Amino acid sequence: MTLALEKFEGIKDPQKLLNEATAAYGRRLELACSFGPEDLVLIDMLSKTGNEFGVFALDTGRLPEETLEVADEIRRKFAIEIRWMFPDTQAVEKLEREKGLFSFRESLDNRHECCGIRKVEPLNRALEGLSAWITGRRQEQSITRFDLAMVEVDQDREGVLKFNPLAAWTSRRVWSYVKDEGLPYNRLHDQGYPSIGCAPCTRAVGFWDDERSGRWWWETPDSKECGLHVAHHDDEVEVRT
Ligand code: ADX
Ligand code: SF4
Repeated sequence: MTLALEKFEGIKDPQKLLNEATAAYGRRLELACSFGPEDLVLIDMLSKTGNEFGVFALDTGRLPEETLEVADEIRRKFAIEIRWMFPDTQAVEKLEREKGLFSFRESLDNRHECCGIRKVEPLNRALEGLSAWITGRRQEQSITRFDLAMVEVDQDREGVLKFNPLAAWTSRRVWSYVKDEGLPYNRLHDQGYPSIGCAPCTRAVGFWDDERSGRWWWETPDSKECGLHVAHHDDEVEVRT
């Protein structure tokens, strides 16, 4: 455990955490934004810090039109530049030519291959040069996130801190914030989609269903991570300051 991590660990209020994090890191800290309700809350909080902040988004090439629409609304509302990241063209061309457009439905390996090309490789490029990043993940979202901390060392990138300011928030609390602040949100949420990723890997769910049950619905809950957030339990890593 390093000093950089300890500096933020006692902070339980997301706004305060973002105030401190943006003050400490400036443009070396960015939000990974999928334009879900959590990320909208975080953009609003980031804008209230009064400090500089950056936002990047991974355009996988398979996002729903509704996500792109809300992304542009958010860009205008907050007058921010969104640093869109695209997958490597040749890797996508090869994948689609050799395996077709829905290979991810055929096996977990194929799904990881597609997420690797469309999300993880662009994420790695997005994080080059950054010292820290912010995500909208919450403990309540899935069994893979139940012990998520508000600040953690990124186990996949040496020296990088990962902030999850809304880790302990419930979905109800997130939505209250979105509604209270009048934030524009993805209209698919009003059509039974609590969690939205790529269009072919997301479907609507019933009222009582788990909030991520419509993501990769053909897989079991323990495999529902795309590689953006891999769970490790070794914190013996040096942190960039
Ligand atoms: S995923 O890993 O299963 O796709 P999820 O949709 O729950 O993730 O989102 C969790 C967090 O991962 C988001 O709050 C955001 O920080 C980040 N994230 C997910 N998808 C993207 C994306 N396309 N672009 C940027 N960040 C993303
Ligand atoms: Fe490919 Fe689906 Fe992963 Fe999107 S969520 S990158 S379409 S496997």
